[in-house]
Amino acid sequence: MTSRAVQYRRFGGPEVLEIVEREDPAPGEGQVRLAVRAAPVNPLDWKLRSGAMASADAPPEPRVPGFDVAGVVEAVGDGVVDLAVGDEVLGKSVGGAYAEKALAPVRALTRKPAEVAWEVAAALPTGVATADRVLGLLGLGAGDHTGTTLVVDGAAGAVGMITVQLAVARGVTVIGTASEAHQDDVRALGAMPVVYGEGLADRVRAVAPQGVDRAVDTAGQGSLRDLVALTGAPEKVLTIADYAGAQELGVTFSSGGDPDAETRALADAVALLADGRLRAPAVVTYPLEEAGKAQDDNQHRRVAGKLVLVP
Ligand SMILES: NC(=O)c1ccc[n+]([C@@H]2O[C@H](COP(=O)([O-])OP(=O)(O)OC[C@H]3O[C@@H](n4cnc5c(N)ncnc54)[C@H](OP(=O)(O)O)[C@@H]3O)[C@@H](O)[C@H]2O)c1
Repeated sequence: MTSRAVQYRRFGGPEVLEIVEREDPAPGEGQVRLAVRAAPVNPLDWKLRSGAMASADAPPEPRVPGFDVAGVVEAVGDGVVDLAVGDEVLGKSVGGAYAEKALAPVRALTRKPAEVAWEVAAALPTGVATADRVLGLLGLGAGDHTGTTLVVDGAAGAVGMITVQLAVARGVTVIGTASEAHQDDVRALGAMPVVYGEGLADRVRAVAPQGVDRAVDTAGQGSLRDLVALTGAPEKVLTIADYAGAQELGVTFSSGGDPDAETRALADAVALLADGRLRAPAVVTYPLEEAGKAQDDNQHRRVAGKLVLVP
């Protein structure tokens, strides 16, 4: 059987993305093949497509973008016992998710409750995995952290909004930065909103006279110096999006994580979402044919929320 996928054979702008008809991928040991119901655009997708993170001129073979996925199991590989054909799941794919069919290791998937919409489910994996990891690295893992004050820079973003909510649920006092347009959204998550940009440190001090214990930059827009000034030390600050700034200031840059911990965090978050105790990002859907437009809209911040491809 064949099905459609988005791929690129060279690095560049959104125009390098093309729709192809290809053989359905065959699941390997410990993998399943999913009929993809939804696959979000993450900033990493267009950063990889641009070639900015590669040393060669082109990927070694055609590459299908996308990591996060939600879909229905339609074939299982050897050794798969935990999932069966027809199961509805979300998590991380391998080999690309911008497609009608995608592969995923069973250990990277969790079940999707019926009441969670496909596009909402697909919007979660990277945000949840990253938020959970970042809080752990800042010493704010599971448990009660009442009395701790955290700044989340980029609190209205996909990673930021989950980070805020997990921290608030752990008793943390959170100050979240966002544009003017998203101040109310950040407040609704349980954080004190502050507008980002020039003068950030003074605005944060005004709402946090008790001082700031930890800070995380989830936006990569040049706030690290302010965050170090607010916390008093680079070791109290983490970034997931400003590699150069981290190098310059001695701040930890965090990427990647333990896949099993990510799946556990995702399962916990899905349970909270199904109970109405976690707010998911607002979602805007695009057909597979508009993958390039969706990436471009995300990169240039033309459309707020999580942009999700629905094949
Ligand atoms: N290292 C890792 O493991 C990892 C994992 C996931 C993501 N990331 C990276 O983290 C970044 C965010 O990802 P995402 O999916 O959360 O993106 P996103 O949903 O597009 O959110 C980005 C947020 O940044 C905010 N922002 C824009 N300019 C800002 C500024 N000057 N100061 C502070 N915030 C600003 C925006 O707020 P407004 O909408 O209010 O303007 C927006 O909500 C990307 O660079 C991504 O590649 C890294």
